[in-house]
Amino acid sequence: MCGIVGAVAHRIVTPVLLEGLRRLEYRGYDSAGIAVLDDSEQLQRVRKQGKIKALETALETHYAEGKIGIAHTRWATHGVPSERNAHPHVCRDTVAVVHNGIIENHDALRRKLMLKGYEFESETDTEVIVHQVHEFLEAGLDLRKAVLRTCAILEGAYAIAVISSRTPGRLVAARHGSPLVVGLGESENFVASDIFALVGETQRFIFLEDGDNVELTTETVQVYDRDQQPAQRPVHETKLVVDAVERGEYRHYMQKEIHEQPVAIEKTLDGRIRAGHVLDAAFGPLAEKAFDHIRSVQIVACGTSYHAGMVARYWMEAIAGLPCSVEVASEFRYRKHVVPPGTLFVSISQSGETADTLAALKEAKHLGYVHTLAICNVPESSIVRESESTLMTRAGLEVGVASTKAFTTQLTALLLLVVALGKRNALSAGQEAKIVKELESLPEQIRHVLRLEDEIQAWAEQFGDKQHALYLGRGAQYPVAMEGALKLKEISYIHAEAYPSGELKHGPLALIDDQMPVVAVAPNNELLEKLKSNLQEVHARGGQLYVFADVDAPMENVPGVKLLRVAATDEVVAPIVYTVPLQMLAYHVALIKGTDVDQPRNLAKSVTVE
Ligand code: G6P
Repeated sequence: MCGIVGAVAHRIVTPVLLEGLRRLEYRGYDSAGIAVLDDSEQLQRVRKQGKIKALETALETHYAEGKIGIAHTRWATHGVPSERNAHPHVCRDTVAVVHNGIIENHDALRRKLMLKGYEFESETDTEVIVHQVHEFLEAGLDLRKAVLRTCAILEGAYAIAVISSRTPGRLVAARHGSPLVVGLGESENFVASDIFALVGETQRFIFLEDGDNVELTTETVQVYDRDQQPAQRPVHETKLVVDAVERGEYRHYMQKEIHEQPVAIEKTLDGRIRAGHVLDAAFGPLAEKAFDHIRSVQIVACGTSYHAGMVARYWMEAIAGLPCSVEVASEFRYRKHVVPPGTLFVSISQSGETADTLAALKEAKHLGYVHTLAICNVPESSIVRESESTLMTRAGLEVGVASTKAFTTQLTALLLLVVALGKRNALSAGQEAKIVKELESLPEQIRHVLRLEDEIQAWAEQFGDKQHALYLGRGAQYPVAMEGALKLKEISYIHAEAYPSGELKHGPLALIDDQMPVVAVAPNNELLEKLKSNLQEVHARGGQLYVFADVDAPMENVPGVKLLRVAATDEVVAPIVYTVPLQMLAYHVALIKGTDVDQPRNLAKSVTVE
């Protein structure tokens, strides 16, 4: 899973490629590389292990200037992160390839190519592509045909871009499973994994379809479909602009994004609620029509977005009175389904590019769901384009790999959906008005929680030397506990697990000792007394308890518990409010551990391979 970018122009494209890589860094940051054809039509390649910054520094002293080139930022799948495994891969100084995806039959292809005398210098699956293209070039095919013949024998998912010193001025790209867009300039053209990479250069894009390949020169863009027929694909004008996000006064993007949540939620609600109502228009005319026929809901997502879906399930059944299932996309896509009549399919994704969620959505379209709705943060992303309706989360660009404001805006959007469906079913006008009021006060409640940062920072100091932590919650706060544990894992590298508090006695209690901090979210609802008993069980075994509780929760009588009063929240929005202190706790623990908060090791912002 990686980001690719390519350009052909009358100017030196190296800065365009580098800027594209910076914008694609959310896809991976293990290593990066660039290959261009210089003025004497020689391939010049520079690769570096580590982030784009390392490549940038290397380019200050290594010559790699050309008017046609390709570049890559990597998230290792096959082969360790290293310069040797970094893309572009090159064959005999003639062909260079960048690839996003996984070639599943690379072992067999590698063996065949080795028998033919090709020497492999990396452990990657990608390297088979470059040697195979070279073999077909040697056999007399032109570059596009050589790429096509190669694609015909590749199994798996890929988006590739290829240049060759044999055909200077021509860039060939192809996609099968992984996204690829063409950017149209004035006497220059581009390809990239997404439009973000190129919005600094052009506003005009062609989204290639699966099976398409394309040949670019400075003056022409010719797309061919999977049957090798010339194809006309629509040109989209995007309104996205280069959006340089500064960190401002904050030490990390994650901290900034945590503090942006009140405003992000306001934006998500803007124009979607009025006079005690959730407006149907928020979902678009198609959804509005479909909503009248919905009798159950299937939610699919990954990572943090999956946790948002889990919270929504509690709401959907309790508030809207509709049966709701939630599943991680990587499981959903590979199992058989029984789709109850009248089921709405909801995908949740910050990026709109997560490979498993996208594949699950594509699969769902053949399974008889009434309608597909995406809750997404990135307009024009693959998931948005594949869905019949969308509800954008309007969180703004999220840079930190650990998702924060995307999550709370997803929850806000999901609550709008729950109400929109609920009022067609079990929800009265009075209940709708009450939830809308809670939503309106949500940004203020979060502002209040953000003021607790000093206290949370003090707690964090006690986590710095710990190896493990346990998170507990009940009801809709259980997925909030899961999200809190995920945040801690992602950025502080402390192993953390979440449990529904009632499950403690079925195993996790065995882990409790004075080295195991236990974090609990305890809002003031009907499950509070039960949760208090669970906490007593932990305390009796020497566990250290850190409890985020409601201002009014009767908790004083729990001995040995560190207690932080979060807010006087209404029950429905409580999962959104209680998420925030858990984000802050993870952030401050990570600061103490000295980790790379915004780009934690081994992770990527968007996972575009299976
Ligand atoms: C990656 C990110 C997570 C994110 C997940 C799903 O694992 O690191 O922060 O929650 O992908 O991404 P999506 O863009 O589909 O919400």
